[in-house]
Amino acid sequence: MPYFKKYWQRLFWGILALLSTDLLQLYIPRVIKQAVDALQQGQATSASLLRQGGLILSFAIGIALFRFTWRYLVLGFSRLLERDLRSRLLSRLVRLDRPFFNRRSAGEIMALSGNDLTNVQLACGMGIVTFIDAFLMTGAAVCFMAYIHPGLTFLALAPMPVLAILTGLLSAMLHKRYNRVQEQFSDLTEFARSTLMAIRLIKAYTQEQRQTEQFDRLGKEFVRNNIRLALVQGVLTPFSTLIASTSLLLVLYFGGRLTIAGSISIGDFVAFMTYLGLLTWPMMAMGWVANLFQRGITSLHRISRVMEEEPLLREPRNPLALPAVTSLSVRNLSFRYAGQNTMALDNLSLDIAPGLLGIVGRTGSGKSALCQLLARLYPVPDDKLFLAGIDYNRLPLAGLREKIAYVPQETILFSDTIRNNIAFGRPGASDAEIVQAARAAGIHEEIEAFKDGYQSRVGEKGLLLSGGQRQRLALARALLLDRPIVIIDDGLSAVDTDTEHRIIENFGSWLPGRICILVSHRVAPLLSADRIIVMEEGAIAAQGTHQQLLESSPFYRTIYQHQTTAGEAAA
Ligand SMILES: Nc1ncnc2c1ncn2[C@@H]1O[C@H](COP(=O)(O)OP(=O)(O)O)[C@@H](O)[C@H]1O
Ligand SMILES: [Mg+2]
Repeated sequence: MPYFKKYWQRLFWGILALLSTDLLQLYIPRVIKQAVDALQQGQATSASLLRQGGLILSFAIGIALFRFTWRYLVLGFSRLLERDLRSRLLSRLVRLDRPFFNRRSAGEIMALSGNDLTNVQLACGMGIVTFIDAFLMTGAAVCFMAYIHPGLTFLALAPMPVLAILTGLLSAMLHKRYNRVQEQFSDLTEFARSTLMAIRLIKAYTQEQRQTEQFDRLGKEFVRNNIRLALVQGVLTPFSTLIASTSLLLVLYFGGRLTIAGSISIGDFVAFMTYLGLLTWPMMAMGWVANLFQRGITSLHRISRVMEEEPLLREPRNPLALPAVTSLSVRNLSFRYAGQNTMALDNLSLDIAPGLLGIVGRTGSGKSALCQLLARLYPVPDDKLFLAGIDYNRLPLAGLREKIAYVPQETILFSDTIRNNIAFGRPGASDAEIVQAARAAGIHEEIEAFKDGYQSRVGEKGLLLSGGQRQRLALARALLLDRPIVIIDDGLSAVDTDTEHRIIENFGSWLPGRICILVSHRVAPLLSADRIIVMEEGAIAAQGTHQQLLESSPFYRTIYQHQTTAGEAAA
């Protein structure tokens, strides 16, 4: 509705042009009738025939012009609507948070902006035009026919209700089958997407064959469901034609007899047949329009379901002012991912003061879960997380997030230049600031060594970086933000020990007054940490300084021993 309102002028003129097209079309049989009657009565002259021919020609030119106009205006409207809807969909999508994207695959979401939007566009453009056109042409043609002979008109229209009933029955079936096709299309899109994303892995594991076969299977399934859909669609059109032919048969026989008896003139008879011809298209269009609307509605529902999703993380009703960052506290925090049975965090409490906090623990012990909650990516109940003593839930959402620089465990780079990747969170940063951040992340020299330096492109269409380089770019991006809280989730795992050491040393001068949380697999970067916590099954199993943990935590002692022995062996 909002889009119909927004573009109502365009629609108004478009529909007016459409009506004009129809009107001219309907008038042509009247001219034919006059010509035929004149011919039959021997009154036709070449001048009168030429005049009537010329009239039809000028109507045809008018029809062409009006038809172009309505197509331009109304179909243009449907494209504008599609564009607006697509923008709105994207702007809604980026507002949603992690729980939503954990639930829906990227392929599923992409299918929405592909096929589904096209269906809505078709229904709102072609669908509406055809509907109005069919409705009007049917109505007008029937009136003109009734004007010639009501009884004959009644006969000609007798087969119509069958069509209406059939259309109604079939469109219900169509709806169901069409839904299945769309769902399958999103599976197909998702499979293609994940295959492309994992192409290097597929090659290395020589899984091309299997991947292709799997895609083939999905494709065959898609075709099968499409054929099931086409079967239903296929019944509609031939049936409409059949009914049109039945009408023609009735008119030819009974109308012919009326003409012989002299109840109607030959001209009327010819005009009647022409009107019936004009009716055939709207009759067939009805099935098609029902189809278009059905698809459009199904797709609109699918789109609406996403549009109506609300972010779970909401702005508090009366947000408090953001305090200075003096501490972070966690109180009896438990957390479980949707659809999981085990707790990712189990009644965890922790106070974090400015300085470096190290987190170690087996994979799956909840380190990332803790980082994500602290970074305000998932909703938490009241009284669980506090910034300088104030509940997270009472602080403005964006304001709180802007206190935190978060480096997620999986490095995310854009297909863009190195400079833009680093400047992502602060697009206005100066070159000097970017270089400073890159230096702090220990990657400046390597960037300089690339052919295009900071302008080198990374990602799909550019440079392929090593895991360690990618991680350090992500780190530089976070450091550039210059925020009081930095959370690095395993962000140095692929960085070699020397570089890691340099980065941590840089941190020393930069840390005072800030809170830095560093999840690490290795002990080395944690040696200087103010405190280290050892996580196990979503809880803190031990905590203290490096020295204290060597004594109190068997897990910590074991990994330390493993790593130092491995280090000595390598040296
Ligand atoms: N997006 C997710 N959806 C469901 N379960 C998850 C998700 N991410 C992690 N988990 C589960 O939550 C638990 C904690 O995971 P995580 O915090 O990532 O551990 P760590 O970072 O210590 O390796 C694990 O059991 C893991 O399988
Ligand atoms: Mg993790």
